[in-house]
Amino acid sequence: MKGIILAGGAGTRLYPLTIVTSKQLLPVYNKPMIYYPLSTLMLARIKEILIISTPEDTPRIKSLLGDGSAFGISLEYAVQEKPEGLAQAFTIGRDFIGDDSCAMILGDNIFYGNGLGAKLAAAKRSAEEGKATIFGYYVEDPHRFGIMEIERVKTDNDSNFRVISVEEKPKEPKSNYAIVGLYFYPKGVSDKADKVKPSARGELEITTLNDMYLKENILNAQLLGRGYTWMDAGTVDSLRKATNFVCMIEQYQGMSISAPEEIAYRYEWIDREKLSESVKRYGKSPYGEHLKAVLEDRIII
Ligand code: G1P
Repeated sequence: MKGIILAGGAGTRLYPLTIVTSKQLLPVYNKPMIYYPLSTLMLARIKEILIISTPEDTPRIKSLLGDGSAFGISLEYAVQEKPEGLAQAFTIGRDFIGDDSCAMILGDNIFYGNGLGAKLAAAKRSAEEGKATIFGYYVEDPHRFGIMEIERVKTDNDSNFRVISVEEKPKEPKSNYAIVGLYFYPKGVSDKADKVKPSARGELEITTLNDMYLKENILNAQLLGRGYTWMDAGTVDSLRKATNFVCMIEQYQGMSISAPEEIAYRYEWIDREKLSESVKRYGKSPYGEHLKAVLEDRIII
């Protein structure tokens, strides 16, 4: 399975913070925002990742993350000339995806929760078997998001739901479950994305793509309930909340979350030597100190 991080957009909701830099390079507490979605795809054990950003920001992101060898993965880069919608990622990424299944995460979406790896593994398995997966998260302002209308299909497993409808930023939302910015699709997603027509706001909506899978009866939904946190850090207020959240979690736990080098090391995608190169690179920063504790086996899980 391939993975895409869509890190485009002008970031106007964050001006002046994003006039000369990418939203996805802004700090969320002690590390750049893009470390979080990168960690999420790595937790899904996806090792071939395409990062799509603007013409100006792509080189900056590349100079931060390089070819992925520090994380034991392969990173490629592509440019989205204009922010014409999330579904466009799959046409831009057509050659990269080839005949494979593909997950996509938005560059400003942050996920946290202990059982996340298992949920992602299930979504990956389904995509490889020909079914798409979207994830729902309870929100109090459903008109701001893509929304899923759902019904429970099994009472013994609270994460099994049938999607009845999906709608982008509805005026009268049919539920409070936002479709978060993490999507798993089976092979052939680029051909489907080709058929997406621009919406009233002029964008190739991911919700239109999800609706195609729904109409074919191959759209799964998983809910991220209690114990999971999802944040979209694309506004000044949500960026502050994300920073506060990560700061609080890291201080209570006494260790970093969403450290791609650590994930790579735990999965044995990099060896000690590679990890020690990163420890040197990050120096005496809290993030560097965290990786040092991992390298020295002071943190073992
Ligand atoms: C986009 C999607 C929306 C989704 C949201 C998650 O919204 O269009 O369906 O719920 O991301 O972050 P946008 O950021 O374009 O407003």
